[in-house]
Amino acid sequence: MSATLSIVTKQANSPAQKMANKTETILVIGACGQLGSELTLQLRSLYGGSKVVAADIYAPKQTDLLASGPFEKIDVLDPKGMAAIASRYKFTQIYHLAAVLSAAGEKDPSFAWRLNMDGLFHVLDLALEQGIGQVFWPSSIAVFGPDTPRQHTPQHTIMNPSTVYGISKLAGEMWCAYYFRKHGLDIRSLRYPGLIGYKALPGGGTTDYAVDIYRKAVEGKPFECYLHEDTYLPMMYMPDAIKATIDLMQAPAENISVRDAYNVSGMSFSPKEIAASIQKLIPSFKIIYKPDYRQQIADSWPQTISDQVARQDWGWHPTYDLDAMTADILENLQQQALL
Ligand code: SER
Repeated sequence: MSATLSIVTKQANSPAQKMANKTETILVIGACGQLGSELTLQLRSLYGGSKVVAADIYAPKQTDLLASGPFEKIDVLDPKGMAAIASRYKFTQIYHLAAVLSAAGEKDPSFAWRLNMDGLFHVLDLALEQGIGQVFWPSSIAVFGPDTPRQHTPQHTIMNPSTVYGISKLAGEMWCAYYFRKHGLDIRSLRYPGLIGYKALPGGGTTDYAVDIYRKAVEGKPFECYLHEDTYLPMMYMPDAIKATIDLMQAPAENISVRDAYNVSGMSFSPKEIAASIQKLIPSFKIIYKPDYRQQIADSWPQTISDQVARQDWGWHPTYDLDAMTADILENLQQQALL
């Protein structure tokens, strides 16, 4: 089921990204997270370290994040604190990545709703108040639900999400489109599939197994999977996710026909298939299956995504398939283990 792409580069930059506009001053909220920590470094390499402010509720553990540019403590539930920091830097763009993910959200729905929705409103209103021209906010495949067509899920279709995370992302998409229509705010969004990287750990997602599995394989330990062996989900390797994000933000505004959030597809696989991909390189690797409450969440999501509109509008295409991703992650984790 995975894509059959064979051209693999370490950093999946598009040509447009090399011509980044150096006049931007960028705030990344949630910069210490799984996506934020890699996206911040890539933005700094494009726009300059001092032009990209990393912000999170906690100081980063990652030394490269601290060493490569400024860091500010920001709580998205504290709009006054955010406004004070924003007026110091005069940002031109915000990437607002802070969120409670699907599995964690089911454990504390009211906090997930508050953080995901109030956080978004605070950022949208900050952008309006301080004339910050462009905002990126991530949506997710969690906006789809059990009534959605599960194969090649179209851009526009039945939604009806069943998790609080999915409900907050769908409501957020509608609000982004509203702020664009009503206030002309240039806010752009992607419905990320499960994001897989080896540098930072995700927290509280249903797709996290596909990150954890590689670490266990490199440690020589068996992996206990909380999803059933045949549970297919849409996934994407982190360099592709970074490329999609920056390509979308750099696309000319007139190309952006979707103002809620774009479907983007990378690959789709099941736990059995990712285990088999690992076993090609580590034949002794073992997986056992103990499905828990996350199985129900996974079963409510699409298995494959159609991203035709993103391809047409701003030239989206993924670079990595499952085996290329596995080879890259295992090589890097093995190198890290030797350090
Ligand atoms: N990776 C997310 C999750 O599992 C989906 O967007 O919650």
